[in-house]
Amino acid sequence: MFKISSLVSAVFLIGSVSVASAWEALPNKAPAPADNPTTAEKVTLGQILYHDPRLSSTGTVSCASCHNTMLGGEDNRPNSMGVNGQTGGRSAPTVWNSAFNTVQFWDGRAASLEEQAAGPVTNPIEMGMKSWDDVVTRLKSIEGYQGLFEKAFGKNSISKDNATKAIAAYERTLITPNSPYDKYVKGNKKALTDQQIKGMEKFAESGCGSCHSGPAFNGPGTYQKFPVISSGFFAAKYKITKDLGREEVTKNSADAHMWKVPTLRNIALTAPYFHNGSVKSLDVAVKMMAKLQMGKELSDQETSDIVAFLNALTGEFPKQKMPVLPGTPGSTFN
Ligand code: HEC
Ligand code: HEC
Repeated sequence: MFKISSLVSAVFLIGSVSVASAWEALPNKAPAPADNPTTAEKVTLGQILYHDPRLSSTGTVSCASCHNTMLGGEDNRPNSMGVNGQTGGRSAPTVWNSAFNTVQFWDGRAASLEEQAAGPVTNPIEMGMKSWDDVVTRLKSIEGYQGLFEKAFGKNSISKDNATKAIAAYERTLITPNSPYDKYVKGNKKALTDQQIKGMEKFAESGCGSCHSGPAFNGPGTYQKFPVISSGFFAAKYKITKDLGREEVTKNSADAHMWKVPTLRNIALTAPYFHNGSVKSLDVAVKMMAKLQMGKELSDQETSDIVAFLNALTGEFPKQKMPVLPGTPGSTFN
């Protein structure tokens, strides 16, 4: 963990004295909760459910529509598009490494991946199903699901609880270790370019790590204010203060504009940025963070060094096979 040059660690400590942590590689495995241990059968079922558009009212939208596992785990759109072309006000976060989030959603309203997975299916502008009872009825009408659930959970086990558990188990396999950054932290000094190392030092020195630290760069705390320093210009241009964030969940005005600190893993692949997807480029997002979170003006050179470092957080994506979905021979599903 401390196998990096002493220069880098010294700068890191100076840059964020309040943080008692250092550079950490991403683990090769994500932790699973005691009541949902990961098994190969659950992961197989979860991957199928995740990619099945028949979990939506129109049969057109799956989890993968907005969280594309062939790309950065989201949709590269400012606001995701659900059934009947509807859009909401928030941008889809990546599912890659979501297993390392302490809470789910920009405002943290779901405590676990299991709880999160229940939401979109019955959200009227996402997958639009009327109720989970309807989802269960539909899954029961698709013959192949009976056997897939049986393998994962036992006989007659098609239920909301088991469907969301399977999806969460699959999501826990969506992790991307071995980025150039991880290799560097584990001792391969050649894994980063000189510019990336400069950017890593600047990241630390600027204090980015006081909010974005730990292996997924999303800790140590869960929520932080954004923007810390209010700015009429950025608020007007990117409408970043329109959404109240965590206050929408807690109804407590102290939580206004509090947001979950997002991971910076694979951040180069997940534009546009911020909860409303209003910022198209990583340079602008980095400049805004420095200005609005810390009152610092980064030069173009410093910005591109940090961006080079953030590019080194793009990991290795596990090869996946497209699942074969169970069909409905001779009829249709609805
Ligand atoms: C129509 C697009 C859409 C669909 C379909 C969709 N999501 Fe999402 N997802 C989003 C958006 C937008 C958010 C952020 C919403 C918020 O924070 O308020 C989100 C948030 C998440 C998160 C939280 C990630 C984080 O970092 O906080 C996970 C995990 C996730 N979705 C998984 C799923 C799964 C599993 C499914 C299928 C059951 C699914 N999503 C279906 C758009 C979608
Ligand atoms: C005071 C805490 C804090 C500091 C300091 C901070 N960030 Fe952030 N960062 C956040 C929060 C909270 C968000 C989510 C904001 C939102 O969209 O609502 C965020 C979002 C981001 C995003 C966009 C993520 C996405 O998925 O869209 C990037 C990139 C980023 N930060 C990089 C940085 C860099 C680089 C620095 C240092 C220059 C930095 N941050 C400093 C709290 C912080």
